[in-house]
Amino acid sequence: MAKKSTMQYVCQNCGATYPKWQGKCDSCGEWNTIEEEKVEASGFSVINNKKKGGIIDFVPLSGSAQTFQRIKTNIREIDRVTGGGLVPGSAILVGGDPGIGKSTLLLQVCASVANASAENECFYISGEEAIDQVRIRAERLGLAQSPVKLASTTEVKDIIATLEKAKPAVVIIDSIQTMYLEDVESTPGSVAQVRATAYELIKLAKRKGFVLFLVGHVTKQGAIAGPRVLEHMVDTVLYFEGERGHHFRILRAVKNRYGATDEIGVFEMQDKGLVEVENPSALFLAERQGNVSGSCVFAGIEGSRPVLMEIQALVSSSGYSGAKRAVVGWDSNRLSMILAVLEARCGMNLSAQDVYLNIAGGLKITEPAADLAVAMAVISSLTNKPLPSDMVVFGEIGLSGEVRAVTQPGLRLKEAQKLGFTNAIVPPTFGKEKKAGALSTYEIGNVHRLVNWFN
Ligand code: TYD
Ligand code: MG
Repeated sequence: MAKKSTMQYVCQNCGATYPKWQGKCDSCGEWNTIEEEKVEASGFSVINNKKKGGIIDFVPLSGSAQTFQRIKTNIREIDRVTGGGLVPGSAILVGGDPGIGKSTLLLQVCASVANASAENECFYISGEEAIDQVRIRAERLGLAQSPVKLASTTEVKDIIATLEKAKPAVVIIDSIQTMYLEDVESTPGSVAQVRATAYELIKLAKRKGFVLFLVGHVTKQGAIAGPRVLEHMVDTVLYFEGERGHHFRILRAVKNRYGATDEIGVFEMQDKGLVEVENPSALFLAERQGNVSGSCVFAGIEGSRPVLMEIQALVSSSGYSGAKRAVVGWDSNRLSMILAVLEARCGMNLSAQDVYLNIAGGLKITEPAADLAVAMAVISSLTNKPLPSDMVVFGEIGLSGEVRAVTQPGLRLKEAQKLGFTNAIVPPTFGKEKKAGALSTYEIGNVHRLVNWFN
């Protein structure tokens, strides 16, 4: 069949296609993301009518399932996030801002698996950096002697031909946006190239049964650059996040076909690479100053693990300009809501006050369970009265000021107790778990009762 190629216009952010160019993508709402790409009609779903399809064998739901032996990376935080180790034949997409440490992390994973057993052939293929650059990094990480096979190329055809002849256990492609297939007539990093190269590599990984890591760049908005389809094609999507100026890094699973999502791994970026953090709570609270107003310890849950973190608020009068609100690490809409509740239900006057909120250590909290801790930090700063330094807080706040129950209160309190906290402010309906060892819990049903704490 003759190859028929047509032009189409593809949004580089979400992958939506249009027959004509337009300034704004109707699908994701982004501006200036639509670019012209050539599509080979025969390469996509054009069914050849002359050849009949085969008959599918249907099977019952019960039956023996293929059991897979996970490959342990021996980096505990990675094994935790992936659900107990890497699954052979699976594809893992690792996204994150430039410079956050993706290449460092994956080189460490690659070397750790290669070091574990001579049978594990591990390949690190960099399309971004030259061999020397990767070698310098390996030297710095103390991994130069690991039996990792290193190459610097962007040609997917060469990669496939080479891996076809080898018996890889782990293959790292850094990054998928640099990979190139000559059969696809668009530049590397375009939706068409990313989709086609990822498809070929994933197909090979499934067939040969190796673990494929794809590094993906992240756009300004925080999505993995290129099409969203990349997220659908792989088995696991991990995001590597953290604030550039801080040394904590969080690896977060947002999709995992072989394990739980929302699981996190915590690392610290040191001069010799990423080091696992065994006790994140202790580290996040390490720099806490006692007896300062506006600081409150929140007992949170990240995945299956309780993590204590410090919430800091600063309330200062706005002077003549309009009141400012600035948030780092939390949702600014949620802060506005809590300030509104404090005004309406507790009679506090915050409209002429600037409010700054910060999650210490560069963490990001998404849990509404932090509401009560945020409210406490704000009131503490407003009244300039420090909270007891041995107290943790958790609870969600509703619009009528009621404090709502949150998930896994027992686990949060256990962690607090482990770290030497003795008091906890918790939502009501706490029931049987009231006495958590040496920890005294105080149930608060409505935020207006919070104010009593400061009198
Ligand atoms: P890198 O892994 O190159 O980031 P990415 O691949 O996500 O773009 O990490 C780069 C940053 O990490 C760089 O700013 C330096 C820092 N770094 C360390 O602090 N310690 C180390 O041992 C290494 C290798 C890098
Ligand atoms: Mg890199």
